Amino acid sequence: MDLIIRNANLPDGRFGIDIGIKDGKIVALEAALTAKGQEEINVSGYLVSPPFVDAHFHMDATLSLGQPRLNQSGTLLEGITLWGELKPHLTVDAIKERALKFCDLAVARGLLAIRSHVDVCDPRLLAVDALLEVKKEVAPYLDLQLVAFPQDGFFSSPQAAELLETALDRGVDVVGGIPHFERTMDEGRKSVEVLCRIAAERGLRIDMHCDESDDPLSRHIETLTAETVRHGLQGRVTGSHLTSMHSMNNYYVSKLLPLMAEAEMNVVSNPLINITLQGRHDTYPKRRGMTRVPEMMGIGLKVAFGHDCVMDPWYSLGSADMLEVASMGLHVAQLTGVDEMKACFGAVTEVPADILGLEGYGIEKGCNADLIILQAADPVEALRLKANRLFVIRRGSIISRSASVQSELNLPGRPKIQNYLLH
Ligand code: FE2
Repeated sequence: MDLIIRNANLPDGRFGIDIGIKDGKIVALEAALTAKGQEEINVSGYLVSPPFVDAHFHMDATLSLGQPRLNQSGTLLEGITLWGELKPHLTVDAIKERALKFCDLAVARGLLAIRSHVDVCDPRLLAVDALLEVKKEVAPYLDLQLVAFPQDGFFSSPQAAELLETALDRGVDVVGGIPHFERTMDEGRKSVEVLCRIAAERGLRIDMHCDESDDPLSRHIETLTAETVRHGLQGRVTGSHLTSMHSMNNYYVSKLLPLMAEAEMNVVSNPLINITLQGRHDTYPKRRGMTRVPEMMGIGLKVAFGHDCVMDPWYSLGSADMLEVASMGLHVAQLTGVDEMKACFGAVTEVPADILGLEGYGIEKGCNADLIILQAADPVEALRLKANRLFVIRRGSIISRSASVQSELNLPGRPKIQNYLLH
């Protein structure tokens, strides 16, 4: 074996497991493995998980905080204005530099697969070209999937339709959309129809920013489910955000959820962003804005939590930490039941991996040896502590390691502790 990780706890509850790795794959998975490894790590009951996956991100905007100025109000509208101010000054090199820096940060956090939307409304398509180059460059250590995102509207931005097709021709993987941002409800509906047809003809997946609004009458998700079924795209379509569902009346939602189940609609909720950008017109009570995550999980929809933004015009915070994202989702959706907390860990690991269609993901024999070792015993403890990533492993090679987080305590009346472990 090239590498053996001994005495691991796994996210599904298996414990005391040795993981044998050869040629970048998991080849053995059992207690007390007798084989010897060229390198061995005894993790002594720490959690070994497949890597984190972010199903919703904007890599063209990330780490641009302060360019050309800060978002003083912290609102979505000022963020959109700011992005408009920054766009004319973008260069391929500057976008690449920020994106590569973010990928470094992601790797250190154990985040090894990202679906990023890329704005296709710039006639120069600079961000598309830059991120296609980044995708190639980071491929040895991070899976980057790109979505052609008509950020200023498929119909309301003059050349978006043509530019979106060009982006797909150049190798962008997924068809995006933003129906609630079109000029009228009707144009929003038409955009969903056209974009689903384009995806069906090209055999591509779909991931739309859908109903990112507090308006309960923003119902483009209804059209998206209908078009999914009409084109036979079940399981290959994702509705991102879906925040209007928070405000819809319950009777209508009781009709909508079964339709979403029929369409095998994937859902990505972005808790950090939804909780800060939605409900801004409210006085009190103030809506939370996050979509109906527990109800969707309850009917078996695949629901992932995405980061959406890190240090960009819309969000000044974030650090590529998917445990922070999942923890926020857990709190906002009140998912504090034992199985619900575990589901929140799944919403930043196996569920988004499934939504992205990643192959060889997981901890089973034959899977890619892509693993993270967390300084925590189980998924709930990992969420509670935003646990340190001790090792990040890609195809059997250690690509990042961190020192164990510990403190020295010297308290009056208490025994002195040299290595107080924060777990
Ligand atoms: Fe987004």
